Amino acid sequence: MTKLDASLSGSFAIGGDLKVNRLGFGAMRITGKGIWGPPENHDEAIRVLKRLPELNVDFIDTAESYGPYISEDLIAEALAPYAQGTIVATKSGLTRTGPDEWHHVGRPEFLRQGVMTSLRRLKLERLDLWQLHRIDAKTPRADQFEVIAAMQKEGLIRHVGLSEVSVADIEEAQKYFKVATVQNLYNFANRKSEAVLDYCEQNGIGFIPWFPLAGGDLVEGHDDAKAILQKHNASGSQIALAWLLKRSPVMLPIPGTGKVKHLEDNVAAAAVNLSDEDFATLDGIAGR
Ligand SMILES: NC(=O)c1ccc[n+]([C@@H]2O[C@H](COP(=O)([O-])OP(=O)(O)OC[C@H]3O[C@@H](n4cnc5c(N)ncnc54)[C@H](OP(=O)(O)O)[C@@H]3O)[C@@H](O)[C@H]2O)c1
Repeated sequence: MTKLDASLSGSFAIGGDLKVNRLGFGAMRITGKGIWGPPENHDEAIRVLKRLPELNVDFIDTAESYGPYISEDLIAEALAPYAQGTIVATKSGLTRTGPDEWHHVGRPEFLRQGVMTSLRRLKLERLDLWQLHRIDAKTPRADQFEVIAAMQKEGLIRHVGLSEVSVADIEEAQKYFKVATVQNLYNFANRKSEAVLDYCEQNGIGFIPWFPLAGGDLVEGHDDAKAILQKHNASGSQIALAWLLKRSPVMLPIPGTGKVKHLEDNVAAAAVNLSDEDFATLDGIAGR
């Protein structure tokens, strides 16, 4: 039986001082359809969250807009007061008008409301990692970055992250605050953020790839991957996660699910150690 232990993925210190096991959990999928309203099965969502510390998953990603509010509320219901070392990272900067509808709002008072209400919902006195969900093109960037820097100075936020940004965006934001993490779409099959990942690695910034399980089908169906799947007795999704973990030491994948069985499948990927040769073969498949 494969060992279920997220610490096998190695660790990374967010912002230089916040150590987490690299394989984390994305809490977007514990909400209803369209990331709207409560989950179909509340008790299973709670079971998923309660299983995290048992599997040494100590890095949980959420956002006020997941539900909205449902994901943060469930995390607090299941896990507060949090086990020592558990990091709940949240975000603001998107408002919701219905299932699958997301709108950027970067007005300083909205971002501050996000931080203040996330603190209340998560039952925390400080947010260890707070991320700007999107830079809002309708609001001056300086206004967004200044309020974030102010909230960090006030001690409401410990570390700041950005989401869906370019290298130029990161460099601009760094004039206001230290960027501790970047959360961009990235997976085995989608490498558009390669340059951002390289920048993060060079600068000690944690890189949180969202939609990390995508590409599993590509691995599963490819002749060149057959021997790798057999050798590791792993599924295509597990190999796609293991590939991410090997790609960079700053990589912090956050696969998301509302099901305990799927959570366990995903955590099992932490035990999959790809050789350099496996990695090169897989890289070739993804690149084609
Ligand atoms: N910053 C951003 O803009 C942004 C955008 C999207 C997501 N995110 C974050 O990134 C996290 C991950 O992204 P994601 O949820 O889009 O992608 P993902 O984790 O790659 O995939 C999640 C999907 O895969 C299914 N799944 C998970 N584990 C499985 C398994 N072992 N076997 C079969 N199916 C499985 C889930 O359904 P089941 O529930 O049925 O398992 C869900 O439909 C989110 O939770 C969220 O925290 C951030």
